[in-house]
Amino acid sequence: MLKIAVLVSGGGTNLQAIIDAKIPNVEIALVVSNNPGAYALTRAQNAGIEAVCLSPKNYESREVYHDALLSCLQEHDIELVVLAGFLVNISEKMVRSYKNRIINIHPSLIPSFCGKGYYGLHVHEAALARGVKVTGATVHIVDEGTDTGPILLQKAVEVKAGDTPEILQRRVMEEAEWIILPKAIGMLANGEL
Ligand code: GAR
Repeated sequence: MLKIAVLVSGGGTNLQAIIDAKIPNVEIALVVSNNPGAYALTRAQNAGIEAVCLSPKNYESREVYHDALLSCLQEHDIELVVLAGFLVNISEKMVRSYKNRIINIHPSLIPSFCGKGYYGLHVHEAALARGVKVTGATVHIVDEGTDTGPILLQKAVEVKAGDTPEILQRRVMEEAEWIILPKAIGMLANGEL
C-alpha cells in the first residue's frame, strides 16, 4: 500500500476524484488544508479520512509553518504527496525531503499558462484571452520551481465558442483533471511511471 497525503485549499473536487477512483494499492492516509473553510475537509471527513488544517496564519513564520507541514507528513509515514489545488508554495526543504515524490495537478497544458500567478480560474481566463482552441491539464513532479518539474501525464480539452472561464474550468476538470490525477497516482503506486 502506498500511503499518500492530498494537500488542498478549496472545493476538493480532485480529492473527490481520487477518493472515488478507489485506486488499487493506494491508501489516502491524510488530507491537509491550509484553509479552515475548505470544503475539501468535509469531503475527507465524509470519506473517513483523517483531515487536518495547517494554516500559515497560525505560525510565526513561513519557515516554521513549512517545518510543521513536513513533520506532519513524516509523522503519518506519507510516501507520496499529491497537491490537488493546494495554493501554498512548497518549501525547498520539502522538495528535497520528498524528492520526486510530490506531484501536482495544473489546469493547463504546461508550458502554457503556468508559473507564478497562474492558478485556479486565472489559468482559464488567460487561455480564453489568448484565444487558444485547445487547453487541458497536466500532472507533473514538483521541483523547486513553479510548475517546472517533469511532466507525467497530460490530457487535451477543446475550448468552445461562448466559453466563460467558469465553463472552461469545469470542462477541464471533468474531461482531464479528474481522470489524469487518479491515473498518475495509480501508475506511480504500481510502478508504471
Ligand atoms: C483545480 O482546477 C487545480 O487544477 C487547480 O486548482 C483547482 C482546485 O480545484 N490548481 C492550480 O491551479 C495549481 N496551480 P479542486 O479544489 O476542486 O480540486
